Amino acid sequence: MKVIKVKDYAELSKVASDIISDLVKEKEDAVLGLATGSTPIGLYKNLIEKYNNKEISFSKVTTFNLDEYCNLPREHEQSYYSFMHQNLFNHIDVKPENINLPNAIGDDLEALCEEYNEKLSKTQIDLQVLGIGGNGHIGFNEPGTPFDQETFVVELAEKTRQDNARFFSSIDEVPTHAITMGIKNIMAAKQILLLASGAAKQDAVKKLIEGEITEKFPASVLKKHDNVIVIIDEEAAGALEK
Ligand code: PGA
Repeated sequence: MKVIKVKDYAELSKVASDIISDLVKEKEDAVLGLATGSTPIGLYKNLIEKYNNKEISFSKVTTFNLDEYCNLPREHEQSYYSFMHQNLFNHIDVKPENINLPNAIGDDLEALCEEYNEKLSKTQIDLQVLGIGGNGHIGFNEPGTPFDQETFVVELAEKTRQDNARFFSSIDEVPTHAITMGIKNIMAAKQILLLASGAAKQDAVKKLIEGEITEKFPASVLKKHDNVIVIIDEEAAGALEK
């Protein structure tokens, strides 16, 4: 795991966007694994700016998102479909048919998982962007998720629902389930870029970098991958030994 320490969120977003734009310049049909949450918003803003400056084009890029809430209408402003369109897709030239998010609306959620897993198994993600949850989750792979797990329906941990309640009018509105890529799908990416910013991520970053590999802390699996870059800012790095 290569750890890059930066000063603050602005620098984290810049370094991350440079890594992605270098990849897209080199491989115009790159397959990007994307994440939602507050952390990658600055990265996405920078990518939009690079697109507007004609530095990069996404016209041949394919994207796969990590997860989606179950049975939250796509039009709901907190669906990850809406999030990705508002924060990135509406502002760049990615082709709608090349955008992939789990379809998590329906009665047969297991079949929808299989459908997404099938799509993932037919390609290889060149670079997967990840945030990290306060409890070490990646995607919605909560503590205790087996490392060989593929796309599945997850019941969200209470901590995750509380963390995400800030985006809804009350915690009761936060969905209880989501479809997420499993850890195995994430680990299949050629390269992984994990971003962590702010003091709230100190404990998670410390466990990720200094702790043992355990299913109790899902992000620790990344130590088994040979091409992972972790970008942390000073606040997120605050609890590290050095
Ligand atoms: P955040 O979420 O970027 O909103 O902190 C990260 C995550 O839960 O994976």
